[in-house]
Amino acid sequence: MLHAVEIPDRIPKERYFDPDFFRMETELLWPRVWQMACRLEEIPQPHDFAEYEILDQSVIVVRTDDMGVRAFQNSCRHRGVRVVTGRGSCDDGFTCPFHGWCYGVDGRNTGIPRRKTFAEHNLESGDIDLVPVRCEVWGGCAWINLDPDAPPLRDSLEPAASILDEWKVESLRSEWWYACRLPVNWKLAIEAFVEAYHVAPTHPQLVIPTRYGRRDSAPFDARAFVDADLQYLRTMSEGMAGMVHADDVRVAEGLRDTELPSDADAAIAAWNRNLNDAVVAWHRDAGHDMPDLNDLAARGLNLEFFQCFPHYFVLPMYSSATAYRFRPLGPEETLMELWSLTRFSDDDRREKPAPPEPWPPDDPRWPPIPAQDFSNLPRQQRGLHAKGFEYMRLSEQMEGHVSNFERVLDGYLAGLPHAALLPAVQQVNVYPFDKPVVDLGF
Ligand code: FES
Ligand SMILES: [Fe+2]
Repeated sequence: MLHAVEIPDRIPKERYFDPDFFRMETELLWPRVWQMACRLEEIPQPHDFAEYEILDQSVIVVRTDDMGVRAFQNSCRHRGVRVVTGRGSCDDGFTCPFHGWCYGVDGRNTGIPRRKTFAEHNLESGDIDLVPVRCEVWGGCAWINLDPDAPPLRDSLEPAASILDEWKVESLRSEWWYACRLPVNWKLAIEAFVEAYHVAPTHPQLVIPTRYGRRDSAPFDARAFVDADLQYLRTMSEGMAGMVHADDVRVAEGLRDTELPSDADAAIAAWNRNLNDAVVAWHRDAGHDMPDLNDLAARGLNLEFFQCFPHYFVLPMYSSATAYRFRPLGPEETLMELWSLTRFSDDDRREKPAPPEPWPPDDPRWPPIPAQDFSNLPRQQRGLHAKGFEYMRLSEQMEGHVSNFERVLDGYLAGLPHAALLPAVQQVNVYPFDKPVVDLGF
């Protein structure tokens, strides 16, 4: 197969720019996978709709009268015009702008001007309705899949879905939504965010020496440890504009003077337990739907980072999360969206979030942490083209997720059946930041 990963820790460079490889992804990957099409708060009311575009396909996602969500191919059955663009709200359904064919929010054709001028064979019932697309809801998002044979959404998101459900991910809403148009391949963009190996050189401000309480052989100093952790939380909060939510940082700052045991392990455990409890109490007092973080930890449900293969990510910390979505625009161009998600009370009625105007990667408005990641990416994309560069050399232990992700993709490109792909997809849906190369079963 073209540019396949033959040795797991070596990734051929052509995968990131060869138009033929990109065509294979367009034909064999994207039409077969579940894709996050919109956040549900974009379509809060019946008849609200949002268009989701992936490559040359466009899908209408619409809220139905019973608050369900349905999806249709965005193509008029008369002469193929895209029925909607962008998003909005409709009264009775959709009207094609060209000749005025009408469709209900259930996709059914509800009107054809000068109907009698068409021969019967072009008016066959069913044939003139919008073509339905599989659509399911999970985690505060509507998802679509263009493949009628794909496994159910939920199975395709495990084990991430079950862990995030316990964390009540569906209660999160967008606080902000940004987008970046990156001059790089979509996989290169993803792979800048899935390992910890880059953190010290790219984000030096996140390396805080006493954070784990032990600087060389110096005795443990609980106060220094707490201050270092607060500095880390503040840096993550400001640097990511909300991955650790500012509310949670304030809660942590309020605990600064709490007594801690003198033993290092006991002190760190007590600090983490106190902080979890305080965050939970703060959010519950504010009327938010908030899980018990210490209960999750006690049950071994760790808030790792989650990839919903292939293109949506949830990075939870305490009460809130950052989410990413990546969409290819061409072999060397990607739209990356970033959300800050947090919890609101039910009576907090927010406007529908509006899709962001994409900023370039060097826009001065980016918070420091993505700005640092974005500064590497265009250089990397250009560097890959060097004549003497053949393949990426991955750390088998620290950059295994990159390999696992690329090899699941190869499973799709090889046309493997869903039954073989599903366990492999589930292997990449949860990744501790230093995930090693794993056996995917093919
Ligand atoms: S193309 Fe839609 S009504 Fe003619
Ligand atoms: Fe980074």
